Amino acid sequence: TGNFTFDPGFLSTASCQSKITYIDGDKGELMYRGYPIEQLAEKCDFLETAYLLREGELPTVKQKEAFVKSIQRHTMVHEQLTRFYQGFRRDAHPMAVCVGVVGALSAFYHDAADFSDQEHRTVSFHRILAKMPTIVAMAYKYSVGEPFMYPRNDLDYTENFMHMMFGTPCEKYVPNPVLAKALDRILILHADHEQNASTSTVRLAGSSGANPFACISAGIACLWGPAHGGANEACLNMLEEIGDVSRVGEYIKRAKDKNDSFKLMGFGHRVYKNYDPRAKLMRETCHEVLHELGLHDSKLFKLAMELERIALEDPYFVEKKLYPNVDFYSGIVQSALGIPTSMFTCIFALARTVGWMSQWEEMLTDADYKIGRPRQLYVGAAKRDVTPIGLR
Ligand code: CMC
Repeated sequence: TGNFTFDPGFLSTASCQSKITYIDGDKGELMYRGYPIEQLAEKCDFLETAYLLREGELPTVKQKEAFVKSIQRHTMVHEQLTRFYQGFRRDAHPMAVCVGVVGALSAFYHDAADFSDQEHRTVSFHRILAKMPTIVAMAYKYSVGEPFMYPRNDLDYTENFMHMMFGTPCEKYVPNPVLAKALDRILILHADHEQNASTSTVRLAGSSGANPFACISAGIACLWGPAHGGANEACLNMLEEIGDVSRVGEYIKRAKDKNDSFKLMGFGHRVYKNYDPRAKLMRETCHEVLHELGLHDSKLFKLAMELERIALEDPYFVEKKLYPNVDFYSGIVQSALGIPTSMFTCIFALARTVGWMSQWEEMLTDADYKIGRPRQLYVGAAKRDVTPIGLR
């Protein structure tokens, strides 16, 4: 007992005040710092969005130039960090590698331990934002046994990431602008989403004053699960398991069966009960990319479209307000871009790092901030006496 509310899953608890992201789940609205996500996705790139989320305003041309320059200064990782990769098995999940390597950054940059200093916080933000593409691409290269690619600062943020993923030392990588734009849009749409599980994790970890890189590592761990960021990977695995349009009905039936734990991956959302505005944008991108690559007739895409059609009409999904979420489409786009399924959640983590860092900083600079410390309802044994081991 105690003077507190029991709210498992935080269905009705606001854990903080925030000026960063606004969601209206009933209307299907998402805004970063007051700007509708649709406008940001159309008129801005990922780095402008990152600047907006942290600074509160979109950058001017001059501010953007300075920001891009600073990010470029930090794109390389310490050579010693490459040794961390060698310690992992080749078949390690790239998310496991990212949890470890990003956590290891805290050992390299503990000089920024006094995070009450704005300059330290700025450098930490620029460092992690600049290094995430390098770290994520290295996790991929390690998994396929190819050499790590150094960043190229003549490319923009997303193109450079593609170069580090798909380039090799044998050939100069030339990014396709349509595909780079699609990936950049994935990053914009995943950059923040108010107090989701991983962001709450980062805030909670950071509330003790821990190193931000360690907190981001905690966020990556939380994101990994299939109910959260892991849904894009789980969704593609599900589509591959279904395998053929003729089997869609069977899986829809399973998803509706109370005695079957199977859920349609990429459907449903805790907050969006009308539609996911990110999904609408990602759906457009999905069609663009598949046309660009001539894949719109592919088996996988046809299957996904059939699943989408049936689920949108089926009374079970309609009544429970289960709509395709952003991850339903982002998985298909990433797969078309040639990104292996196991990397999808790492790319989500790359993007969400912006939201995590912005929210971490917002918390630290909030005059009323306290260490996060939920209470519980104790339902265990009543007070009792210990029997010595020989008498038990
Ligand atoms: N397929 C079949 N039934 C579902 C699904 C689904 N994908 N999602 C929810 N339901 C049912 C659920 O069984 C429950 O039924 P009942 O009322 O009969 O018990 C009802 O709908 C309400 O669902 P809930 O699980 O209580 O809702 P929640 O808010 O706790 O969970 C969710 C939201 C996203 C975890 C859940 O919908 C889910 O597991 N979806 C699949 C995984 C997924 O796509 N996750 C990505 C979310 S978007 C990316 C992100 O931001 O992380």
